[in-house]
Amino acid sequence: MTKKITIAIDGFSSTGKSTIAKQLAQKLGYIYVDTGAMYRAVTLYAMQQNYISDTHFNVEDLINDLNNISLSFTFNESLGFAEMYLNDVNVEKQIRTIEVSRLVSKVAEISEVRRKLVSEQQEMGKNKGIVMDGRDIGTVVFPDAELKLFMTASADKRATRRYKELLDRGDKVNFEEILHNVQERDRIDSTREDSPLLEAEDAIEFDNSDMGLKEQFDRIMSLVNTRLEA
Ligand code: DC
Repeated sequence: MTKKITIAIDGFSSTGKSTIAKQLAQKLGYIYVDTGAMYRAVTLYAMQQNYISDTHFNVEDLINDLNNISLSFTFNESLGFAEMYLNDVNVEKQIRTIEVSRLVSKVAEISEVRRKLVSEQQEMGKNKGIVMDGRDIGTVVFPDAELKLFMTASADKRATRRYKELLDRGDKVNFEEILHNVQERDRIDSTREDSPLLEAEDAIEFDNSDMGLKEQFDRIMSLVNTRLEA
């Protein structure tokens, strides 16, 4: 049987984690899991139940309702990746809005939310052959992953990427608002008490501010191959 490994990809928001994760999963025939989508889906649920808005957050109500949140991924053949389902409804588009982006870091700070999602993520990866991206994958979810990558890029580059993504989707967006959101999420994600965004000691750092996608993929694939041969 061919050897399978676990690939953990962490880093700040909009550093291209999901792009490289999808490419690797496709090349290797591995499962790809976007853990940010799971935090976003819990946030969407909290918004739908009116537990959270820009002006209030009833943390206890969300915690007491966590058992009613069922998250799953279903592979979409035509898109080539798995889409996020919240209680059996496809929420892939709804979780990418600026409203969800504005509130998600607050939801991701809650330890009870993290405990639920981390245990679901560990279950998905128990047979290896997985590429998972997020903020705490190499530090908390899979501390024994064979390959850990930590992605970085300047805030300006990252905001520009997110801005283009949203424009391409047809959303009306403001660059300053996106830059502010990227910086604010970085701040909350890095300073929260439970599982802050940290570079694992054994992670390999990639600053892709000025690196092309092909170069990045080739460099990372050669790291993967050394792990597969080990
Ligand atoms: O990767 P993303 O931008 O879609 O993630 C959305 C938010 O979810 C991010 O601001 C922080 C949180 N998150 C987290 O706390 N831990 C993860 N493993 C993944 C995401």
